Amino acid sequence: MSKPELAPEVEHFYSQVIDESARLSCSADGRLELLRTQEILRRFLPPAPARVLDVGGGAGVHARWLVNDGYEVQLIDPVARHVDQAAKVCAAELGDARQLSAPDASYDVVQLLGPLYHLPDTRDRHAALSEARRVAKPGGLVAAAAINRYASVFEHVTYAHLHTERMQASVGTILRTAIYDGKRGFTLAYFHRAEELGEEMRAAGLVDVEVFGVEGPAWSALKAVEQQLGATPPEDLFASVLTAARMAEPYPELLAASSHLLAVGRVPKGNA
Ligand SMILES: C[S@@+](CC[C@H](N)C(=O)[O-])C[C@H]1O[C@@H](n2cnc3c(N)ncnc32)[C@H](O)[C@@H]1O
Repeated sequence: MSKPELAPEVEHFYSQVIDESARLSCSADGRLELLRTQEILRRFLPPAPARVLDVGGGAGVHARWLVNDGYEVQLIDPVARHVDQAAKVCAAELGDARQLSAPDASYDVVQLLGPLYHLPDTRDRHAALSEARRVAKPGGLVAAAAINRYASVFEHVTYAHLHTERMQASVGTILRTAIYDGKRGFTLAYFHRAEELGEEMRAAGLVDVEVFGVEGPAWSALKAVEQQLGATPPEDLFASVLTAARMAEPYPELLAASSHLLAVGRVPKGNA
């Protein structure tokens, strides 16, 4: 069977427009995303050493801390530039979330911290999550990140241009259709509602599914300081925004305000 094709806009964006190796360190909301992803995942990860498949692992930013924590990480990504960068951190090879080459039940953990962003077709997201379930061991952990359906409302306020006609039209289309066409700025992307991400995990056969707001409801305050004042947000502001993300966790209504969502689920123990 031939490998599924990566959308050319996505390939171009990651190969030539942004450097994914810096995304989670060069801005305050990026650092918040990294810190919260770590703290949420660490609650569910099995003790090290264990085998982790990092699907769409990009330049290896998450692989690095997992390796440092003692995990054996294999990273796959469809973008050659990412595979080259990640190979300095762990074993890395070209691959696509929709068709994994790993055997059934071969990993303790499978994480997709990015591929679902770029699969606007429901069948592709189902294929990616089903493949993750297939290659994870019975009882194993599957974690999947998504961009929140409402994130662009908050984000474009921080640029102080949501009131312009062009941005209202662009963000309005994302709110209505859940898809960004990748014509300008960002690339082709799908934006999830929290309930929808949980449903997609369960539809792929995963159980004990929980969905978290990664950055919480106040992340855009950090970005507004950077964008409007051109300054690094003060430490107290970062600490308050982080506290808001932790305090919001028991309240599903607040999931809608987070920039990213992180779902965790398990492969049923009786999975053959
Ligand atoms: C925003 S980046 C996230 C990278 C990394 N996981 C992280 O969290 O920092 C999204 C990643 O998904 C990858 N990706 C896009 N489509 C994919 C697909 N069909 N299968 C696997 N990975 C894909 C991209 O190449 C990119 O590395």
